[in-house]
Amino acid sequence: MPTADTTSNGPWDAKLQQFHGGQDWAHMDNFVEDFSVTTNAFGMPDSAMAAAIQSISHSHHYPPADQEPARSSLARFLWPAEFESEQNRLILGNGASELIDLVIRMAPKGTWKPGPFRTQYKEYERSARNNNFELLPVDSADKANVACLVNPCNPTGDYLELPDLKRWISANVLPGGYVLIDESMQPWHSAEFREHSLTSQHEYIRKMYDEYSISIFVMHSWTKLWCCTGLRLGSVVCPTVDHMRAIKKVQVPWSVNVVALAFLNAVVADETYLRKTWQMTPVWRRQTINLLQKMFPGWVFYGRDFLSWIWVDTGSETTAQKAVDLAHAAGVPVRSGRPGYNLPSFVRLAVREPTKVNVLLDAWKSL
Ligand SMILES: Cc1ncc(COP(=O)(O)O)c(C=O)c1O
Repeated sequence: MPTADTTSNGPWDAKLQQFHGGQDWAHMDNFVEDFSVTTNAFGMPDSAMAAAIQSISHSHHYPPADQEPARSSLARFLWPAEFESEQNRLILGNGASELIDLVIRMAPKGTWKPGPFRTQYKEYERSARNNNFELLPVDSADKANVACLVNPCNPTGDYLELPDLKRWISANVLPGGYVLIDESMQPWHSAEFREHSLTSQHEYIRKMYDEYSISIFVMHSWTKLWCCTGLRLGSVVCPTVDHMRAIKKVQVPWSVNVVALAFLNAVVADETYLRKTWQMTPVWRRQTINLLQKMFPGWVFYGRDFLSWIWVDTGSETTAQKAVDLAHAAGVPVRSGRPGYNLPSFVRLAVREPTKVNVLLDAWKSL
Protein backbone atom coordinates (compact mmCIF):
# COMPACT_ATOMS: atom_id res chain seq x y z
CA MET A 1 0.00 0.00 0.00
CA PRO A 2 1.20 3.57 -0.60
CA THR A 3 2.63 5.17 2.51
CA ALA A 4 0.09 7.46 4.12
CA ASP A 5 1.03 11.07 4.81
CA THR A 6 0.56 11.63 8.50
CA THR A 7 -0.84 15.10 7.88
CA SER A 8 -2.82 15.06 4.66
CA ASN A 9 -2.71 13.44 1.25
CA GLY A 10 -4.93 16.13 -0.21
CA PRO A 11 -7.15 14.75 -2.97
CA TRP A 12 -5.23 11.45 -3.14
CA ASP A 13 -6.84 8.38 -1.62
CA ALA A 14 -3.93 7.32 0.59
CA LYS A 15 -5.13 3.71 0.72
CA LEU A 16 -5.48 3.23 -3.03
CA GLN A 17 -3.35 5.79 -4.84
CA GLN A 18 0.26 6.91 -4.83
CA PHE A 19 0.81 10.49 -3.67
CA HIS A 20 2.25 12.93 -6.24
CA GLY A 21 3.01 16.64 -6.08
CA GLY A 22 1.12 19.14 -8.20
CA GLN A 23 -2.34 19.13 -6.62
CA ASP A 24 -2.18 22.11 -4.24
CA TRP A 25 -2.20 24.99 -6.71
CA ALA A 26 -5.92 24.68 -7.52
CA HIS A 27 -6.92 25.07 -3.89
CA MET A 28 -4.97 28.26 -3.14
CA ASP A 29 -6.27 31.78 -3.49
CA ASN A 30 -2.72 33.21 -3.36
CA PHE A 31 -1.06 30.77 -5.79
CA VAL A 32 2.22 32.10 -7.25
CA GLU A 33 4.21 29.13 -8.61
CA ASP A 34 4.24 25.36 -8.31
CA PHE A 35 7.56 24.18 -6.87
CA SER A 36 6.09 20.76 -6.07
CA VAL A 37 6.45 19.26 -9.57
CA THR A 38 9.57 18.66 -11.66
CA THR A 39 8.24 20.43 -14.76
CA ASN A 40 10.28 22.75 -16.96
CA ALA A 41 10.76 26.23 -15.45
CA PHE A 42 9.82 27.81 -18.78
CA GLY A 43 6.24 26.56 -18.65
CA MET A 44 4.26 25.36 -21.65
CA PRO A 45 6.00 26.25 -24.93
CA ASP A 46 3.89 28.89 -26.75
CA SER A 47 4.05 27.30 -30.18
CA ALA A 48 2.79 23.95 -28.94
CA MET A 49 0.17 25.52 -26.71
CA ALA A 50 -1.20 27.37 -29.75
CA ALA A 51 -1.36 24.09 -31.69
CA ALA A 52 -3.13 22.41 -28.77
CA ILE A 53 -5.71 25.20 -28.49
CA GLN A 54 -6.31 25.12 -32.21
CA SER A 55 -6.87 21.36 -32.11
CA ILE A 56 -9.93 21.85 -29.90
CA SER A 57 -11.75 22.94 -33.05
CA HIS A 58 -11.48 19.44 -34.51
CA SER A 59 -11.97 17.61 -31.23
CA HIS A 60 -15.44 16.52 -32.30
CA HIS A 61 -13.54 13.86 -34.31
CA TYR A 62 -11.79 10.84 -32.84
CA PRO A 63 -7.99 10.98 -32.51
CA PRO A 64 -6.02 9.05 -35.17
CA ALA A 65 -5.80 5.36 -34.23
CA ASP A 66 -2.12 5.22 -35.25
CA GLN A 67 -1.21 8.34 -33.20
CA GLU A 68 0.12 9.97 -36.38
CA PRO A 69 1.71 12.29 -37.30
CA ALA A 70 2.70 12.98 -33.68
CA ARG A 71 4.25 9.55 -33.15
CA SER A 72 6.54 9.88 -36.16
CA SER A 73 7.44 13.42 -35.17
CA LEU A 74 8.54 12.22 -31.75
CA ALA A 75 10.50 9.38 -33.39
CA ARG A 76 12.33 11.96 -35.56
CA PHE A 77 13.06 13.96 -32.42
CA LEU A 78 14.52 10.91 -30.67
CA TRP A 79 16.47 9.59 -33.68
CA PRO A 80 17.12 12.43 -36.15
CA ALA A 81 19.44 10.20 -38.22
CA GLU A 82 18.05 6.72 -37.60
CA PHE A 83 14.36 7.50 -37.59
CA GLU A 84 13.52 5.05 -40.39
CA SER A 85 15.06 1.98 -38.82
CA GLU A 86 14.02 2.64 -35.19
CA GLN A 87 10.61 4.32 -35.29
CA ASN A 88 8.46 1.17 -35.23
CA ARG A 89 9.57 0.38 -31.70
CA LEU A 90 7.94 3.58 -30.37
CA ILE A 91 4.39 3.93 -29.04
CA LEU A 92 2.71 6.84 -27.25
CA GLY A 93 0.65 6.67 -24.10
CA ASN A 94 -1.65 8.70 -21.89
CA GLY A 95 1.28 9.93 -19.85
CA ALA A 96 4.16 7.62 -19.01
CA SER A 97 1.85 6.35 -16.27
CA GLU A 98 -0.32 4.40 -18.71
CA LEU A 99 2.73 2.73 -20.28
CA ILE A 100 4.42 1.94 -16.96
CA ASP A 101 1.34 -0.01 -16.00
CA LEU A 102 0.89 -1.70 -19.40
CA VAL A 103 4.51 -2.89 -19.60
CA ILE A 104 4.52 -4.20 -16.03
CA ARG A 105 1.25 -6.07 -16.68
CA MET A 106 2.89 -7.76 -19.71
CA ALA A 107 6.11 -8.59 -17.86
CA PRO A 108 7.06 -12.12 -16.76
CA LYS A 109 5.65 -12.70 -13.27
CA GLY A 110 7.91 -13.21 -10.28
CA THR A 111 10.17 -10.76 -8.52
CA TRP A 112 10.45 -6.98 -8.96
CA LYS A 113 13.32 -4.73 -8.03
CA PRO A 114 13.85 -0.94 -7.96
CA GLY A 115 16.98 0.98 -9.02
CA PRO A 116 19.95 1.26 -6.64
CA PHE A 117 19.10 4.69 -5.23
CA ARG A 118 17.73 5.61 -1.83
CA THR A 119 14.24 5.94 -3.29
CA GLN A 120 12.72 6.46 -6.72
CA TYR A 121 9.51 7.51 -8.46
CA LYS A 122 6.90 5.19 -6.99
CA GLU A 123 4.46 4.27 -9.76
CA TYR A 124 6.68 1.36 -10.86
CA GLU A 125 6.43 -0.18 -7.43
CA ARG A 126 2.72 0.51 -7.23
CA SER A 127 2.11 -1.26 -10.53
CA ALA A 128 4.33 -4.20 -9.49
CA ARG A 129 2.40 -4.52 -6.24
CA ASN A 130 -0.96 -4.30 -8.01
CA ASN A 131 0.19 -7.07 -10.35
CA ASN A 132 1.26 -9.36 -7.51
CA PHE A 133 5.02 -9.24 -7.99
CA GLU A 134 7.22 -10.16 -5.05
CA LEU A 135 9.01 -6.91 -4.20
CA LEU A 136 12.74 -7.30 -3.55
CA PRO A 137 14.44 -4.69 -1.37
CA VAL A 138 16.76 -2.22 -3.04
CA ASP A 139 19.85 -3.88 -1.52
CA SER A 140 18.86 -7.45 -2.45
CA ALA A 141 21.69 -9.39 -4.10
CA ASP A 142 19.14 -11.39 -6.11
CA LYS A 143 18.42 -10.72 -9.76
CA ALA A 144 14.76 -9.97 -10.50
CA ASN A 145 12.30 -10.90 -13.24
CA VAL A 146 11.46 -7.22 -13.59
CA ALA A 147 13.70 -4.29 -12.68
CA CYS A 148 12.81 -0.61 -12.92
CA LEU A 149 15.34 2.19 -12.66
CA VAL A 150 14.56 5.89 -12.92
CA ASN A 151 17.51 7.66 -14.60
CA PRO A 152 17.97 10.48 -13.71
CA CYS A 153 16.24 9.47 -10.52
CA ASN A 154 13.29 11.51 -9.37
CA PRO A 155 13.52 12.53 -6.53
CA THR A 156 17.12 11.75 -5.44
CA GLY A 157 18.81 13.32 -8.47
CA ASP A 158 21.18 10.37 -8.99
CA TYR A 159 22.20 9.65 -12.58
CA LEU A 160 24.00 6.69 -14.12
CA GLU A 161 25.98 7.16 -17.32
CA LEU A 162 25.53 4.40 -19.89
CA PRO A 163 28.41 2.09 -18.84
CA ASP A 164 27.18 2.05 -15.21
CA LEU A 165 23.58 1.64 -16.30
CA LYS A 166 24.47 -1.38 -18.44
CA ARG A 167 26.45 -2.91 -15.58
CA TRP A 168 23.45 -2.46 -13.28
CA ILE A 169 21.16 -4.16 -15.78
CA SER A 170 23.50 -7.15 -16.15
CA ALA A 171 23.84 -7.50 -12.39
CA ASN A 172 20.15 -7.21 -11.52
CA VAL A 173 17.94 -8.84 -14.15
CA LEU A 174 17.30 -12.53 -14.75
CA PRO A 175 17.50 -13.98 -18.27
CA GLY A 176 14.05 -13.62 -19.83
CA GLY A 177 13.35 -10.61 -17.63
CA TYR A 178 12.02 -7.12 -18.31
CA VAL A 179 13.90 -3.89 -17.60
CA LEU A 180 12.15 -0.52 -17.51
CA ILE A 181 14.52 2.43 -17.62
CA ASP A 182 12.75 5.74 -17.06
CA GLU A 183 14.53 8.54 -18.92
CA SER A 184 11.83 11.18 -18.46
CA MET A 185 14.32 13.72 -17.09
CA GLN A 186 17.28 12.62 -19.23
CA PRO A 187 16.70 15.09 -22.12
CA TRP A 188 17.62 17.90 -19.69
CA HIS A 189 21.18 16.51 -19.83
CA SER A 190 22.37 18.80 -22.64
CA ALA A 191 22.09 19.32 -26.38
CA GLU A 192 23.97 15.99 -26.61
CA PHE A 193 21.38 14.14 -24.53
CA ARG A 194 20.72 11.59 -27.28
CA GLU A 195 24.25 10.20 -27.20
CA HIS A 196 23.97 9.68 -23.43
CA SER A 197 20.56 8.04 -23.67
CA LEU A 198 19.74 4.36 -23.79
CA THR A 199 17.55 5.18 -26.81
CA SER A 200 20.79 5.47 -28.83
CA GLN A 201 22.01 1.98 -27.86
CA HIS A 202 20.29 -0.06 -30.57
CA GLU A 203 22.93 -2.77 -30.85
CA TYR A 204 23.15 -3.24 -27.09
CA ILE A 205 19.36 -3.52 -26.71
CA ARG A 206 19.20 -6.03 -29.57
CA LYS A 207 22.06 -8.07 -28.16
CA MET A 208 20.53 -8.20 -24.67
CA TYR A 209 17.34 -9.53 -26.19
CA ASP A 210 18.95 -11.96 -28.65
CA GLU A 211 21.50 -13.40 -26.23
CA TYR A 212 19.74 -13.23 -22.83
CA SER A 213 16.07 -12.66 -23.74
CA ILE A 214 16.24 -9.54 -21.57
CA SER A 215 13.71 -6.97 -22.81
CA ILE A 216 14.76 -3.37 -22.19
CA PHE A 217 12.09 -0.65 -22.40
CA VAL A 218 12.93 3.07 -22.29
CA MET A 219 10.08 5.04 -20.74
CA HIS A 220 9.52 8.78 -21.16
CA SER A 221 7.08 11.09 -19.52
CA TRP A 222 6.94 14.13 -21.81
CA THR A 223 4.83 16.07 -19.33
CA LYS A 224 7.91 17.33 -17.48
CA LEU A 225 10.30 18.45 -20.23
CA TRP A 226 7.51 20.22 -22.08
CA CYS A 227 5.55 21.21 -18.99
CA CYS A 228 2.19 19.74 -19.97
CA THR A 229 1.23 17.51 -17.04
CA GLY A 230 -2.46 18.21 -17.63
CA LEU A 231 -2.30 16.93 -21.20
CA ARG A 232 -0.95 13.42 -20.38
CA LEU A 233 1.83 12.49 -22.82
CA GLY A 234 4.31 9.65 -22.56
CA SER A 235 6.08 7.14 -24.75
CA VAL A 236 7.99 3.90 -24.59
CA VAL A 237 10.79 2.71 -26.85
CA CYS A 238 10.40 -1.07 -26.90
CA PRO A 239 13.21 -3.57 -27.45
CA THR A 240 11.58 -4.97 -30.60
CA VAL A 241 8.66 -4.20 -32.88
CA ASP A 242 6.91 -7.29 -31.49
CA HIS A 243 7.02 -5.83 -27.98
CA MET A 244 5.52 -2.59 -29.32
CA ARG A 245 2.76 -4.59 -31.00
CA ALA A 246 2.07 -6.47 -27.77
CA ILE A 247 1.44 -3.13 -26.04
CA LYS A 248 -0.71 -1.92 -28.93
CA LYS A 249 -2.82 -5.08 -28.67
CA VAL A 250 -3.93 -4.30 -25.11
CA GLN A 251 -3.83 -0.48 -25.08
CA VAL A 252 -7.26 1.15 -24.96
CA PRO A 253 -8.12 2.86 -28.26
CA TRP A 254 -7.44 6.62 -28.57
CA SER A 255 -5.59 6.73 -25.27
CA VAL A 256 -3.76 9.91 -26.35
CA ASN A 257 -6.30 12.58 -27.20
CA VAL A 258 -6.40 15.06 -30.08
CA VAL A 259 -5.10 17.97 -28.01
CA ALA A 260 -2.12 16.08 -26.62
CA LEU A 261 -1.20 14.74 -30.08
CA ALA A 262 -1.35 18.24 -31.60
CA PHE A 263 0.80 19.57 -28.78
CA LEU A 264 3.41 16.84 -29.25
CA ASN A 265 3.52 17.22 -33.00
CA ALA A 266 4.33 20.92 -32.62
CA VAL A 267 6.56 20.87 -29.56
CA VAL A 268 9.26 18.61 -31.00
CA ALA A 269 10.08 21.37 -33.50
CA ASP A 270 10.63 24.03 -30.83
CA GLU A 271 14.43 24.13 -30.70
CA THR A 272 14.52 27.56 -29.04
CA TYR A 273 12.63 26.23 -26.05
CA LEU A 274 15.09 23.39 -25.54
CA ARG A 275 18.10 25.64 -26.03
CA LYS A 276 16.94 27.99 -23.28
CA THR A 277 16.09 24.99 -21.08
CA TRP A 278 19.65 23.62 -21.37
CA GLN A 279 21.13 27.06 -20.91
CA MET A 280 19.15 28.37 -17.93
CA THR A 281 18.12 25.36 -15.84
CA PRO A 282 21.62 24.72 -14.40
CA VAL A 283 22.14 28.46 -13.80
CA TRP A 284 18.88 28.92 -11.87
CA ARG A 285 19.46 25.65 -10.04
CA ARG A 286 22.93 26.73 -8.87
CA GLN A 287 21.68 30.22 -7.88
CA THR A 288 18.87 28.74 -5.81
CA ILE A 289 21.21 26.32 -4.04
CA ASN A 290 23.67 29.15 -3.29
CA LEU A 291 20.93 31.28 -1.74
CA LEU A 292 19.54 28.38 0.28
CA GLN A 293 23.01 27.38 1.44
CA LYS A 294 23.51 30.87 2.86
CA MET A 295 20.16 30.77 4.67
CA PHE A 296 20.45 27.17 5.88
CA PRO A 297 24.10 26.08 6.12
CA GLY A 298 23.07 22.69 7.54
CA TRP A 299 20.91 21.66 4.58
CA VAL A 300 22.29 19.17 2.07
CA PHE A 301 21.44 19.50 -1.64
CA TYR A 302 21.31 16.50 -3.96
CA GLY A 303 21.12 15.98 -7.71
CA ARG A 304 22.98 16.57 -10.94
CA ASP A 305 23.41 20.18 -12.13
CA PHE A 306 21.22 19.83 -15.21
CA LEU A 307 18.12 18.64 -13.35
CA SER A 308 14.84 20.50 -13.07
CA TRP A 309 14.57 20.04 -9.33
CA ILE A 310 16.60 20.07 -6.09
CA TRP A 311 16.33 17.29 -3.50
CA VAL A 312 17.06 18.80 -0.12
CA ASP A 313 17.75 17.17 3.22
CA THR A 314 16.89 19.71 5.92
CA GLY A 315 18.19 17.30 8.55
CA SER A 316 14.97 17.48 10.56
CA GLU A 317 11.42 16.25 10.10
CA THR A 318 10.07 19.26 11.95
CA THR A 319 12.00 21.72 9.77
CA ALA A 320 10.93 19.97 6.57
CA GLN A 321 7.27 20.00 7.61
CA LYS A 322 7.51 23.67 8.54
CA ALA A 323 9.17 24.41 5.18
CA VAL A 324 6.30 22.64 3.41
CA ASP A 325 3.68 24.52 5.45
CA LEU A 326 5.30 27.94 4.99
CA ALA A 327 5.70 27.41 1.25
CA HIS A 328 2.08 26.35 0.99
CA ALA A 329 0.88 29.39 2.93
CA ALA A 330 2.85 31.70 0.60
CA GLY A 331 1.37 30.19 -2.58
CA VAL A 332 4.58 28.41 -3.62
CA PRO A 333 4.00 24.73 -2.72
CA VAL A 334 6.98 22.33 -2.50
CA ARG A 335 6.87 18.54 -2.31
CA SER A 336 7.44 16.93 1.06
CA GLY A 337 9.71 13.88 1.10
CA ARG A 338 7.31 12.17 3.47
CA PRO A 339 4.37 10.83 1.45
CA GLY A 340 5.41 7.91 -0.74
CA TYR A 341 9.16 8.39 -0.31
CA ASN A 342 9.02 8.12 3.46
CA LEU A 343 11.93 10.53 3.88
CA PRO A 344 10.32 13.15 6.11
CA SER A 345 13.40 15.36 6.59
CA PHE A 346 13.55 15.96 2.80
CA VAL A 347 11.76 18.40 0.54
CA ARG A 348 11.87 18.56 -3.26
CA LEU A 349 11.63 21.87 -5.03
CA ALA A 350 11.47 22.62 -8.71
CA VAL A 351 14.00 24.87 -10.41
CA ARG A 352 12.22 28.12 -11.17
CA GLU A 353 13.10 31.63 -12.32
CA PRO A 354 14.61 33.96 -9.67
CA THR A 355 11.54 36.15 -9.07
CA LYS A 356 9.53 33.06 -8.12
CA VAL A 357 12.37 31.70 -6.00
CA ASN A 358 12.40 34.97 -4.05
CA VAL A 359 8.81 34.37 -2.97
CA LEU A 360 9.78 30.95 -1.62
CA LEU A 361 12.88 32.29 0.14
CA ASP A 362 10.84 35.08 1.74
CA ALA A 363 8.41 32.46 3.01
CA TRP A 364 11.29 30.50 4.52
CA LYS A 365 12.84 33.48 6.34
CA SER A 366 10.95 32.55 9.48
CA LEU A 367 12.17 28.92 9.43
C1 LIG B 1 10.30 9.85 -13.38
C2 LIG B 1 8.86 9.92 -13.77
N1 LIG B 1 8.37 9.01 -14.61
C3 LIG B 1 7.08 9.04 -14.98
C4 LIG B 1 6.21 9.99 -14.49
C5 LIG B 1 4.77 9.93 -14.93
O1 LIG B 1 4.51 10.97 -15.74
P1 LIG B 1 3.23 11.19 -16.65
O2 LIG B 1 2.28 10.09 -16.42
O3 LIG B 1 2.72 12.52 -16.25
O4 LIG B 1 3.77 11.20 -18.06
C6 LIG B 1 6.69 10.95 -13.61
C7 LIG B 1 5.79 11.98 -13.04
O5 LIG B 1 6.08 12.61 -12.06
C8 LIG B 1 8.05 10.92 -13.24
O6 LIG B 1 8.56 11.81 -12.39
